[in-house]
Amino acid sequence: MYSCWVVYNGSLTSDKFKDQAVLIKEAAERAGVQAELKKNYEVMMDLSNNFAERPSFVVFLDKDILLAKFLKNNGIRVFNDPDVIETCDNKANQYLELSRNEIPMPKTIIAPKVYPSFTIADSGYYEKVLSYLGLPMIIKEGHGSFGMRVYLIETEDDFYSKVDELRGVDYIFQQFIESSRGRDIRVNIVGGEIVAAMYRHSETDFRANITNGGVAEVIELTEAQKALAIRAADAVGAEFAGVDLLFGENEEPLVCEVNAAAHIRNIYNVTGINVADAMITYILREIQ
Ligand SMILES: Nc1ncnc2c1ncn2[C@@H]1O[C@H](COP(=O)(O)OP(=O)(O)O)[C@@H](O)[C@H]1O
Ligand SMILES: [Mg+2]
Repeated sequence: MYSCWVVYNGSLTSDKFKDQAVLIKEAAERAGVQAELKKNYEVMMDLSNNFAERPSFVVFLDKDILLAKFLKNNGIRVFNDPDVIETCDNKANQYLELSRNEIPMPKTIIAPKVYPSFTIADSGYYEKVLSYLGLPMIIKEGHGSFGMRVYLIETEDDFYSKVDELRGVDYIFQQFIESSRGRDIRVNIVGGEIVAAMYRHSETDFRANITNGGVAEVIELTEAQKALAIRAADAVGAEFAGVDLLFGENEEPLVCEVNAAAHIRNIYNVTGINVADAMITYILREIQ
């Protein structure tokens, strides 16, 4: 009999992280796998002793990349692979991979590293970014979820104060796709196949995230949307992915981001499709 751990972050207080883990645990149990929920801190990353505990596989829902690597180094198959979690965790890093694979996306510039106590405000760098991308523009921190660290910059004052505030932080500048204001598509992919998709739109915000006030409904994807979502997941090597797609000027799809630990509750509620079952089916095929 197979056994698995479903790892999630134990420091976050919101119920949705545990809820997500429970969905996976239940799917594993339905498939006859003995499943256990694990908060990340419940696994001691003790490097001085042999690590004896050994589930058949781990579904890793956290961004504790070091723990994912620790488990992998101890010979345990981790889904997604820690390298994929790491690539996707930092949006700048992820856009590097997407761009390398020629994935259509908004024009993106990765901000240079600026140490927190220093500035390049007088260098002319920011003026070049402004004149290239224009306003409004998107600024996105490398690390962020639920739309919380994505900013719509409408004025030069906002621009300069944001870049000043972000000294010491990884972030990117991005073309604002006006034709996609307040709307996007979430596509859940498992092992290169589309399992579920939803259209998200917000009347109150440029961000379509549900956590941010967006509402969602079922959508029939176009062939172009399907193909791009699959290519994007593949570009970052993700076996499980939640791909966000934007609507370009002529409705052509553009990749907004790829989530390596996409939440599956909302898409379950909206579409009735439990992505967890597809994930477990995929894993059981892979580890045979
Ligand atoms: N370049 C862009 N143009 C227009 N809207 C965008 C752009 N980038 C992000 N958005 C909107 O902001 C939301 C959050 O951005 P995203 O990159 O997915 O970050 P998060 O990880 O916080 O979800 C997207 O779902 C989309 O609605
Ligand atoms: Mg997103």
